Amino acid sequence: MRMVDLILKKRQNIELTETEINWMIEQYTNEDIPDYQMSSMAMAIVFNGMTDKEKYYLTNAMVNSGDRVDLSAIEGKKVDKHSTGGVGDKTSLTLGPLVASCGAKLAKMSGRGLGHTGGTLDKLESIKGFNINVSEDDFIKQVKDIGIAIIGQTKDMCPADKKLYALRDVTGTVESIPLIASSIMSKKIAAGADTIVLDVKVGSGAFMEDIEKAKALAKAMVNIGKQFERNTTALITNMDQPLGKAVGNSLEVIEAIETLKGNGPKDFEDLCIDLAAHILLNAGIVGSYDEGVALLKEKIKSGEALNKFKDFISAQGGDATVVDDYTLLPTAKYQYEVKAKQDGFVKKMNALAIGNYAMTLGAGRLTKDASIDLAVGVLLDKKIGDDVKQGGTLAVIHSNNELTDDKLNEFYSIYKISSERVEKPKLIFDAVQ
Ligand code: URA
Repeated sequence: MRMVDLILKKRQNIELTETEINWMIEQYTNEDIPDYQMSSMAMAIVFNGMTDKEKYYLTNAMVNSGDRVDLSAIEGKKVDKHSTGGVGDKTSLTLGPLVASCGAKLAKMSGRGLGHTGGTLDKLESIKGFNINVSEDDFIKQVKDIGIAIIGQTKDMCPADKKLYALRDVTGTVESIPLIASSIMSKKIAAGADTIVLDVKVGSGAFMEDIEKAKALAKAMVNIGKQFERNTTALITNMDQPLGKAVGNSLEVIEAIETLKGNGPKDFEDLCIDLAAHILLNAGIVGSYDEGVALLKEKIKSGEALNKFKDFISAQGGDATVVDDYTLLPTAKYQYEVKAKQDGFVKKMNALAIGNYAMTLGAGRLTKDASIDLAVGVLLDKKIGDDVKQGGTLAVIHSNNELTDDKLNEFYSIYKISSERVEKPKLIFDAVQ
């Protein structure tokens, strides 16, 4: 077989066979196919797409390029959740303990933040002592014992995806539904859960800016999941504004804990409950979505979900007393209120701009190896549809550096205020099953 023939075939939009895709991924992982040929193939896929069969073969080849996590020693339903990434998305921190308190077994491998989007691992590391580097044996034991573990991806999982994603990043070939779908799903399949719920974000702070593309990505991922006989559902959710009020690592941890105490912002709580109810339903823990919602609300009210969070943090070496004392988290030196200059209603607030602003404060990283400041970020007092009064607080910026008026005005300009009433935006657009 020659790679050039496969590139020509894809360029002519002819379906590649399973043998061809397996050969290509194996040779590429072994460095027998050079980056320039693989990037040419990726570009042909960007233009011509892939059939359902090809997407499945590609995912499978990437799964087989490395180790799979064997969760068979864990009794009960093994569940996983993935978000395509957004601003203020701390869902796993709240949803994990919630579903675990209902009897699901959440065995999750998460990532770090890059660019304007945050990462679950960084947020968890705001908690003193929390360890994300847990051996596979300890990971499995923890899920068995308490129903939840969240760790970093092991080195040997999906090496083909790691190599291909890095190549796509520098060759203008990230934005391709088959490539994104197979990349995400290869990691989910290798991680071993039998029930997977995906949160596909759409809007200014997301990968997908329009709803039709988000739906196509959701369908592609659900389809791949089904071919691997994993119970997979995807929700399409709004990322035109940050989720909840907190953006920034330790600020988001506080919001996640407050939500487990029943005091979270409504949009964030609603999304956690919705995703979690789908997990419980798909895992067969409840008989209907509504039963799931009721059970989850009960777990918040009774304090069981919060206790599960404490068990989870302690099991991974973190200081669980943080739930009663937020001063144990990194705290920024300065707080600046951003005040409204007119009466009206918040019409827009670009999630990407807020994510980028938080990144410039130090909350996010521009390159994979950059260090971040866990204390800084923004707390949004007002969001789209809220009414504002001149002089009232729109947001509070938490910074470890003194900020100039220009820098504060930069944040103010992210808010668009209208004199006419504005509807609160829809949070969940669709569910794909
Ligand atoms: N996240 C992934 O893991 N892969 C992609 O291709 C895009 C986002």
